[in-house]
Amino acid sequence: MHNIHIAGTGIWHPEQKVSNEEIVNSYNSYVDNYNSVNEDSIKDGSVAAMEHSSVEFIEKASGIQSRYVIDKEGILDINRMMPRVHNEHEDRLSIHAKAGLEAAVKAMEQANVRVSDIDAVIVGTSHAARNYPAVAIEIQNELGIKGYAYDMLVGCSSTTFAINNAFSDIASGLANTILVINPEISTPFVNFTHRDKHFIFGDGCAASIIQKDSTSEKSFKILDRKLYTQFSNNIRSNYSYLNRAAVDNKPNDELLFHQNGRGVFKEVCPLVAELISSQLKSNDIDPKNISKFWLHQANGKMIRLITSKILGTDDFNPEIAPMPIKEYGNLASVGSLFAFNLNNDLNSGQKGVICSFGAGYSVCSIIVEKN
Ligand SMILES: CC(C)(COP(=O)(O)OP(=O)(O)OC[C@H]1O[C@@H](n2cnc3c(N)ncnc32)[C@H](O)[C@@H]1OP(=O)(O)O)[C@@H](O)C(=O)NCCC(=O)NCCS
Repeated sequence: MHNIHIAGTGIWHPEQKVSNEEIVNSYNSYVDNYNSVNEDSIKDGSVAAMEHSSVEFIEKASGIQSRYVIDKEGILDINRMMPRVHNEHEDRLSIHAKAGLEAAVKAMEQANVRVSDIDAVIVGTSHAARNYPAVAIEIQNELGIKGYAYDMLVGCSSTTFAINNAFSDIASGLANTILVINPEISTPFVNFTHRDKHFIFGDGCAASIIQKDSTSEKSFKILDRKLYTQFSNNIRSNYSYLNRAAVDNKPNDELLFHQNGRGVFKEVCPLVAELISSQLKSNDIDPKNISKFWLHQANGKMIRLITSKILGTDDFNPEIAPMPIKEYGNLASVGSLFAFNLNNDLNSGQKGVICSFGAGYSVCSIIVEKN
């Protein structure tokens, strides 16, 4: 009987950091400008005045204090309000592949794995870089990996779903070692002129090596996986290759990320708490014996609420549910793996839960044990 491990992980984020003060100052200047340009229409009631954002609201509602982004200047420029990126070009590496390679090298080093050991590459992300060729194949080519590679999309659960696929491929005998990469370059898809959304996302990428019988010091045995999906429009993007040919033409802003944040909060917290609790129960594991809950980083209050529901008490050491969201913002599907990578100094035999959840809705929870 073989074990399958997360043998090592690596993370990457852009260097440019944006504080709440900076993002709110830029947003508020945009609002002042908008209100002044539209002064007459606002007075006659034909246009609604925009309201200021605030640092206090952002910290209280989300727990976010800063985020790392691929282009701070473009995002803070009130005449642009979005990062400056280049179109994909056949002669250069895509932005997703570049981020993926940075994280992959670190994961391989931690897992003590060489390129020649890797049989496959799986890229899981919330936002497809393009339709084809797969970014995973681009990364496979760049690293010189033999075997196969593919991309997959499961919203904010893409990271754990991709680890789950790697586990299944290894368990079925297709591969022994798989490189999983989760690039989340979200800021080009955020409407920075929208008060409910302008503060939420940062950019980042993680990679993990999933391997049969790893001997790496940092490795965690995967004990169990549980997946669940339930259709919801509460987190949605309508951006698609169909847009070009659509007869009901919509402006880009209407096609970007949008969410009913309160609806998500109310529906997803009980769903995730119940899923993890029942998974632990069916594995005969007392929640009190879980040393870390590495949860999806969408909102600090959500993380606390889910953890307290699972433990049956509000009274727990906050370190049990790490919150990189504070520094990195919401990293879409890769937040849970950032939490894992930055806080996994467990002793042999100690257990933890990695769980990402979000658009779909989709949830994938993985119970791991330190080797
Ligand atoms: C997005 C989120 C942080 C917003 O928090 P919230 O408390 O639900 O905030 P709401 O949008 O309902 O707004 C609450 C109030 O703050 C105000 N507000 C919203 N954005 C604001 C801002 N940037 N600054 C100041 N006030 C703001 C609203 O106008 C509203 O005022 P009202 O009560 O007078 O109507 C929160 O809902 C969330 O994180 N939800 C889960 C998201 C999630 O899991 N997403 C997954 C995607 S990966």
